[in-house]
Amino acid sequence: MIKNKVIKLDIGCGERKKKGFVGIDIDPNSDADIIASALDLPIENDSIDEIQSSHLIEHFLPKETQRFFDEIYRVLKRGKLANIKIDKDWTKKRLLAKDSTHKYRYKTKEIKKMLEKFSYKKVKDKIFFFRLYQPRRKIFIKLIK
Ligand SMILES: C[S@@+](CC[C@H](N)C(=O)[O-])C[C@H]1O[C@@H](n2cnc3c(N)ncnc32)[C@H](O)[C@@H]1O
Repeated sequence: MIKNKVIKLDIGCGERKKKGFVGIDIDPNSDADIIASALDLPIENDSIDEIQSSHLIEHFLPKETQRFFDEIYRVLKRGKLANIKIDKDWTKKRLLAKDSTHKYRYKTKEIKKMLEKFSYKKVKDKIFFFRLYQPRRKIFIKLIK
């Protein structure tokens, strides 16, 4: 009897792929197991048990982010979780200066608007502030399909 395999994806994993996750990244020098674009995942519909994506979508313009959201909704199994972490920093200027490949500073309400068209059972968001060594600001989004 063949057991259903649990597959978890870390999309845009870079060099910090999450343990137990299959890494996907566009950069061949990353830790990815699959070199592919997050905007065109080589993954079957409704086949993934968990998705994590950290510090990826600030590298996308809104049109690309919408496409990314289409892709994760497509591949995630019903009832399963996607965890998305977005660097927001304190200002657009700071965010864009921090990394030359950053393209856009998202607001939580913009992200939630993009997610409205999907029928996620749950959409939770949190803003995190880290002040210990340097001020940081991140949006964490939890989606349950
Ligand atoms: C700032 S790094 C984040 C790495 C890691 N997730 C972390 O939190 O440390 C952004 C990663 O996104 C990848 N990336 C950028 N555009 C991508 C795309 N269209 N598809 C997949 N990965 C992409 C980059 O190659 C890079 O490894």
